[in-house]
Formats: sequence, structure tokens, C-alpha cells
Amino acid sequence: MASVKPVKQLRRMSPEKLVRHDLGEDEKRTPIPLLIREAAGNSSRGISLEILKRAARKCQACDLWKNATQTVFGNGSARARVMLVGEQPGDREDIEGEPFVGPAGKLLREAMLQAGIDLGDVYLSNVVKHFRWEASARGKRRIHKKPRQSEIDACHPWLEAELEALSPQVLVCLGATAAKAMLGNKFSVSRDRGKVVPSPLPCVVLATIHPSSILRSPDTESRHAEMEAFVRDLRTVAQLIAGN
Ligand code: URA
Repeated sequence: MASVKPVKQLRRMSPEKLVRHDLGEDEKRTPIPLLIREAAGNSSRGISLEILKRAARKCQACDLWKNATQTVFGNGSARARVMLVGEQPGDREDIEGEPFVGPAGKLLREAMLQAGIDLGDVYLSNVVKHFRWEASARGKRRIHKKPRQSEIDACHPWLEAELEALSPQVLVCLGATAAKAMLGNKFSVSRDRGKVVPSPLPCVVLATIHPSSILRSPDTESRHAEMEAFVRDLRTVAQLIAGN
């Protein structure tokens, strides 16, 4: 996993140390730790999710910002006990500026309700915070493109900072991109979905499928079966936060 200095240490570092001087003009982007510090201003309180969200608006850590409408940062209660992480915002999320507001998000909410997870106890985010897309053949639609590893790595400090600011009890990785980003490239969702995974993170971690894969089911029967299995994985999350 890419690493960033704990946000608590960032304020004490001089800007000189935070800026990379070995890069060409084009690559001299404001580093994420510096964006966070600027957004924090001289607030004496800790780095909150609100500060991080404000800081991330200016993120240019990779090139995805160039074709996206805006940064789509995580969203949810600052006291949420469950953090769910997806891949990247889609078309709807890019327009609205909130994660999981499109069809996959609708299905995710429905599954959480069925599993008994209180939506007010949830914080939703993504491994990558800008929409990666290409124009359809006729140029009328924006087609989702999987983020590159370099983009996932560039965005990782935001995820670490969100985890530190939120300190959730349970982290749920939705789909292979999120699972590999948090648990390493060898992690297989199909093999280990719904199980608590050993991890150095200071919370319980598990992975399940991405809700968009249910939307791609070839027929009603498999869609139902996929949904049931998804709800089953999320019930494990509900039990974990209930202390069972
Ligand atoms: N898919 C994701 O992974 N994240 C979103 O926010 C929306 C769709």
C-alpha cells in the first residue's frame, strides 16, 4: 500500500520537505499533504473529513482531474462505524459530486437496508476520486474506464487520510479494485468475499463484490442470486458492528 505521513505529522513539516524538487515543471503538482495542510489552515483541531474534502477539491495528483467535472470525495457521517470503498465515481457521481448516487449506489443502499445496516452509520468513498472515462463511439456517452495502477497509487493518500480521520470499526472493500488497493494484489474477492481478512489496518476489514457487477447480471435469476449473496456479506458487517 502506498504510504503517506500520518496527517497529524503533516503540520509540523516545512513546505520545503513536502514539495518534490526532482520533478519537471509539468509534474510539480501540489502534494496531497500540502493540500491538506492548506485546507486545515490554523485550525488547532484534528484533520477532519470536512477539511480533507475541501483539500481534495484541488487535487491534481494524477491527470484524471483534467477530464473530470470535479473531485468526488467520500461522504457520510463523521461518526460512521462502517466505511465502504468502491472503485471510482461514475458518470452520475462526477456530475453530482457525491459517491454512489447512480444505479450502483441505489442497489448498494437497498442491499444495506436488507442487511440491517443503518445508512446513517455508513461512510462511502472510492479508491480513486476522479471519474476516468472515454467517449463512446458516437461521442454521446461517457464510458467508465478502469483506473490505472498509477492513478490508484496517486490517490491512495486520500484514502489513508479518510481512514485516519474517520477511524471506522469496519472497512468494506467493494470489488476487486478496492480490495487489491487495500489488501494487496494477491487478494481474490471471489475466493475470500465476506470473510474478515487479516490486515495491518486498525479496523476489521472485509471485501465483497462491487454492486455494479449485480447490475451486469445476464438474467433475473442470477441477479437475484448475486443480490442475496451480497446481502449475506453485508449481514456479516451488520453483525460485526452489533458486536457479534
Ligand atoms: N461505482 C463506484 O465504485 N463508486 C461510485 O461512487 C459509483 C459507482
